Amino acid sequence: MTTGPAVRRLSAWDAELLRGLAAEYDTPLYVLDPERVRENAARLRAAFDAEEISYAVKANTTRPVLATLRATGVGAECASAGEVERALAAGFAGEDVRYTAVNPPERDLNYVTDVAADHDLVVTVGAADALDRLDERDFDGRLCIRANPGVGAGHHEKVATGAAPKFGVPMGRVPDLAAEAVDRGFQLVGLHAHAGSGISGEDLEAHRELVARMGELARSVIADVSSLGFVNVGGGIGVPYRADEDPLDLDAVATATRDAFGDVDARLGIEPGRYFVADAGVLLTQVNTVKPTPETTVAGVDAGMTTLVRPAMYGSYHAVRSLAGDADERETVPTTVAGPICETADVLCEDRPLSDPERGDLLAVGNAGAYGYEMSSNYNSRPRPAVVAIEGEGGRLAVRREAVADITGLETWSE
Ligand code: LLP
Repeated sequence: MTTGPAVRRLSAWDAELLRGLAAEYDTPLYVLDPERVRENAARLRAAFDAEEISYAVKANTTRPVLATLRATGVGAECASAGEVERALAAGFAGEDVRYTAVNPPERDLNYVTDVAADHDLVVTVGAADALDRLDERDFDGRLCIRANPGVGAGHHEKVATGAAPKFGVPMGRVPDLAAEAVDRGFQLVGLHAHAGSGISGEDLEAHRELVARMGELARSVIADVSSLGFVNVGGGIGVPYRADEDPLDLDAVATATRDAFGDVDARLGIEPGRYFVADAGVLLTQVNTVKPTPETTVAGVDAGMTTLVRPAMYGSYHAVRSLAGDADERETVPTTVAGPICETADVLCEDRPLSDPERGDLLAVGNAGAYGYEMSSNYNSRPRPAVVAIEGEGGRLAVRREAVADITGLETWSE
């Protein structure tokens, strides 16, 4: 299996193919390349050759991604009952599915414990009272305890989870909770922690610290309480969003992870989301209005924070490229690409040097495969975009474009 380059930049996408897809499926449009998802999985597998790898499906749950990753043999880490349902529907074996919800709603636990009776999925708990909640539902399946490692990392404070009290059982209380779980007859099979999202070169130290703490915790649980099948140290493997950023050295991350974990009689596991899909997706959007202002040129496009929320929510950088046929011949001007939503935050980039935009131009937004479509919304009564997967020389529709009727169809109130 080909592992491809360490990163696929926006400039490497075939402009003609993208223009053809936009013409056929309209914009805004998410385009996914399953082949790139496969390459990303192959690179992860090559680096983490002996480890358990799951895909954190929250990054992208569309069927081409789930089906592609299922076929590579990775497991599925799910943050909700809905994600479990979709992972199973995409063919993941129950035994490869992990349910890791935070503060699981009652409805979720009802569904998951029901499903666990037939599919041997792992249920991860992040609070002591979750044992009572599982007992009430006669859960006798596989259990994992999520620890709060007290160390966090991430590309933005809003995605650093490791030290936030919301997540996991405080490290020092895990051995007692593990003992209680075993006493109460639960099948304790694993421990889990996640530092945050976007481990980069600088954050590698935090990751290493988390893994070291988990290794120590696991050794103590194994010595005093119970054997363990696995210890999962979470996701967070970063990808370069900027053209001048280098990709992570995966082999170095894998070696650092193993070294920090040390000698533990349980399988080490990781569960990245972003890494599998970020550079396997682009968002296509059309310029509908161009407005020169004294400060910048505003290119008004048909995709906004309801299509891709990351820039508005985290100030995230996404590469933008003009796909106009003559883009290379045009002057480069500072451009603010703004969406159609009535919010100041609704800009995809500000003052970015871009090929002078014209009405009707197609723009591509890079690294949109992770947390793009997945976080889209209907704010301003904007229907969500379509998703198409590249297949052969063309595309295959994966998710149809919403219509306003899909939104109003949920309403039950009429005068
Ligand atoms: N495992 C757990 C328990 C997680 O909560 C997450 C992400 C992952 C794995 C995968 O992390 P990744 O490898 O994708 O970094 N919406 C944000 C990211 C939030 C991620 C939340 N949890 C963004 O757009 O950057």
